Amino acid sequence: MPCSSKNTIPVEDQVIVQEPQHLESKSQWEQIKKTLTKKPTNVDELTKAILKHSAFQAKNGDTAALHSYCTKVLDPDAVEHLFDSLLPDMMQLALRVSELCTKPIPLLKRGVSHSITMSQEQVACLLANAFFCTFPQRDIRECCNYPDFNFFRLFKGSSSKKMEKLKTLMCYFKMVTQQIPTGLVTFSRRKLEKPLNWKSSKTLLTKLHITCEGTIEDDGYGMLQVDFANKFVGGGVIGAGLVQEEIRFLINPELIVSRLFTEALDDDECLVVTGTQQFSKYTGYNETYKWSGSFQDKTPRDAWQRMCTEIVAIDALKFEHFLEQFHPSKINRELNKAFCGFRHPEEKSPTLAAVATGNWGCGVFGGDTRLKALIQMLAAAEAGRDVAYFTFGDSQLMTDVYNMHSFLTQRNISVGEASRHPDSF
Ligand code: APR
Repeated sequence: MPCSSKNTIPVEDQVIVQEPQHLESKSQWEQIKKTLTKKPTNVDELTKAILKHSAFQAKNGDTAALHSYCTKVLDPDAVEHLFDSLLPDMMQLALRVSELCTKPIPLLKRGVSHSITMSQEQVACLLANAFFCTFPQRDIRECCNYPDFNFFRLFKGSSSKKMEKLKTLMCYFKMVTQQIPTGLVTFSRRKLEKPLNWKSSKTLLTKLHITCEGTIEDDGYGMLQVDFANKFVGGGVIGAGLVQEEIRFLINPELIVSRLFTEALDDDECLVVTGTQQFSKYTGYNETYKWSGSFQDKTPRDAWQRMCTEIVAIDALKFEHFLEQFHPSKINRELNKAFCGFRHPEEKSPTLAAVATGNWGCGVFGGDTRLKALIQMLAAAEAGRDVAYFTFGDSQLMTDVYNMHSFLTQRNISVGEASRHPDSF
């Protein structure tokens, strides 16, 4: 953590006569506090403040996107509001990390089913620190298997995608600094202890609702909503990516905090996040993504004061060669991954919420939509959940998947039979 006593830097100008381990060091947090109590009056001062805490990034500090956002995108009133109130409020929020996060945050490590629950206020504070890049470099053991968290990459380059990302995230910071949300968010890493023996399953398919209209986030209320994830959760959300996962992480930015403590997902693991709030609306997709205003999320809260929005991150396999995905071992991996995401850790009952999903693994990752739809229907059936499938505008796919589901259910074909011959339907 930025305020950890272990977050130190060598004292400058000391004569290095002793062994490196005897070097005098000072608290980085003291430096950060000095920087974050000085209100920047323009983007150059802001950039200096952001780059100050990390030698590596300072050398490589391309902040063209932040510069363009502050000097070209915002109108003069918005620039004044940004430097006079929003940034100072965000700095105050970031500085509260020593008060709000008094213990180090546990890591959701690979191979361990484990949950972390934190307040939306703690989440906002951690994200404000990520904006000012105050988190120390991860130690060598961690850095390669965890997503990056400081927002350095968000400030790089000057694509229009970065401008829209910055508009979306600054909308979040504006809303939470004006009125801190009072709920909780739970991050649960789940591991499938034992892969299923799919071929012997006698389970029959559950119900399917399929439509070529709507989206998972707009029409999946009350359902288990699928994040078409990267194994490094959030994927390119602070980088260049701007497809399904990145968009969800931008409009529900509390999801981004999972990158701080979630190790890369293994083949038999998923991450379930309950309670995140939507703060922005958007139009378009990928190159045409545009922030289109703030969003008042009226989703009711559960007994734990968590918004009743449950999102499951499952990363599909990326296929360089189309036919590779029809290999039984690849189908098995995807069945187990989806089942790991869809099953309820405690129960299998018909009262479980449906899965709200779509063309999982069939965009950037090159999967076949019909095969992936079948895999998800089989996994959902095994988990005891119905399926709400959004084909994202593809009406032919809607017809084909509907017909496939009807063929299987009218003949009472079990999950086991279907998984033995997935290419027969
Ligand atoms: N609702 C329903 N369907 C959607 C939505 C949505 N909001 N957004 C996109 N889709 C459909 C589109 O048809 C898209 O082509 O899902 C398809 C797959 O979306 P991708 O994001 O490309 O998913 P995937 O192929 O699994 O690639 C995952 O992309 O976002 C990154 O971090 C992610 O690295 C990972 C990779």
